[in-house]
Amino acid sequence: MLKEIQVSLCIFFVFALGFLYKLSLQPGRFFSCMPISKRLLTLEDVMSQRSKSIIFLETTNSLEPSPLASCSVESAARIYHDRPVVFFMKGLDNNTRLGINSSSTALSFLLAMKNVFIFPLQMETLFQEMPLLPWYHKVNESQEKYWVHVSSDASRLAIIWKYGGIYMDTDVISIRPIPGANFLAAQSSQFSSNGIFGFSHHHWFIWSCMEDFVQHYNGDVWGNQGPYLMTRMLTGLCNLSDFQVAEDLSCQNISFLHPQRFYPIAYPEWRQYYKVWDTWPDFNNSYALHLWNFMNKEQKQVVAGSNTLVENLYKIYCPTTYRELIQGPRESEHLPRNKTS
Ligand SMILES: *[C@@H]1O[C@H](CO)[C@@H](O)[C@H](O)[C@H]1NC(C)=O
Ligand SMILES: *[C@@H]1O[C@H](CO)[C@@H](O)[C@H](O)[C@H]1NC(C)=O
Ligand SMILES: *[C@@H]1O[C@H](CO)[C@@H](O)[C@H](O)[C@H]1NC(C)=O
Ligand SMILES: *[C@@H]1O[C@H](CO)[C@@H](O)[C@H](O)[C@H]1NC(C)=O
Ligand SMILES: *[C@@H]1O[C@H](CO)[C@@H](O)[C@H](O)[C@H]1NC(C)=O
Ligand SMILES: *[C@@H]1O[C@H](CO)[C@@H](O)[C@H](O)[C@H]1NC(C)=O
Repeated sequence: MLKEIQVSLCIFFVFALGFLYKLSLQPGRFFSCMPISKRLLTLEDVMSQRSKSIIFLETTNSLEPSPLASCSVESAARIYHDRPVVFFMKGLDNNTRLGINSSSTALSFLLAMKNVFIFPLQMETLFQEMPLLPWYHKVNESQEKYWVHVSSDASRLAIIWKYGGIYMDTDVISIRPIPGANFLAAQSSQFSSNGIFGFSHHHWFIWSCMEDFVQHYNGDVWGNQGPYLMTRMLTGLCNLSDFQVAEDLSCQNISFLHPQRFYPIAYPEWRQYYKVWDTWPDFNNSYALHLWNFMNKEQKQVVAGSNTLVENLYKIYCPTTYRELIQGPRESEHLPRNKTS
């Protein structure tokens, strides 16, 4: 008798848990789950709301995001607080994923944010049933000049095709939400970047981009699979006029967003981010700021107390990164510790 009660209680709890778990996956309730249940979620669970996610990639084996990468992810998680922010890292595998928070300060505080998820980037699995798979099998990584870039160009297309959402480079600071689902970012008139773009899942444009990627593959030309690909696809669809004041363009329902939206400071001027400004630029026409990290060959850093534009951007848009990675190490030496013993 006792045994039967035990068994039925047991069955009851299994069902109750299953029910609670399902409930937690419903839109709106999703983010009320706390970190423990968050860790149980698979990639498919997180992506089950199609076209909602904000996607970041790391295609080197690094498991230690730079302060700028950390700021990109944190700022997106704050601006898109009701959408999953998913960081794919090639250096992770299914086993290291669980021990993730001991490996890096940045990853541990990012994971503590309720809508940030970190998953391994497994290209072989990702490219299944896509035009990219035969290319991926054929290419020899060790002979590729720009493999980190090229594999990133391919992966971002595949992820946005498969799940939809917004892809962002890890040197983009989000400052307000991007309206609309299907867009490319203009770097200048008639020229599209691939550092930030958004599409609903299974969008024909992204499929065409993957086909073009394979057909016109040339790994020796930097950007041929990246910004140049986006640009030739877009200009093949529409005759684009040059940008006027701050109006976006539209091409077959794909918005082509004005350079001001993400590149209010153009790349020749990238050092402006590391300077002290007399008046605060309001960036009212921008959704996010691309910091042109590839131009930063001299490894300029954000310095606490410098009052540079970038320091102030960190303070506002990624305060945890600022506290932990910019201010943190120095301050903790001087502040008295809260000893519990
Ligand atoms: C990692 O886990 C995912 C989901 O469970 C699975 O699809 C994938 O094949 C696994 N990868 C490896 C390399 O085991
Ligand atoms: C990971 O983080 C959780 C919660 O923040 C903490 O309880 C746990 O001890 C951490 N694990 C490791 C291995 O650091
Ligand atoms: C890839 O290239 C390297 C060196 O260039 C060579 O040693 C290796 O055998 C190649 N791999 C394949 C699978 O062809
Ligand atoms: C662009 O304009 C040219 C000449 O005006 C025309 O031949 C071409 O078909 C147009 N292309 C598209 C995609 O509309
Ligand atoms: C653009 O979107 C509207 C509304 O969703 C649709 O009716 C129209 O056919 C689309 N046009 C193109 C060129 O895809
Ligand atoms: C920018 O936006 C802020 C807040 O919405 C507003 O106070 C300010 O006047 C705007 N600046 C310009 C130049 O429009």
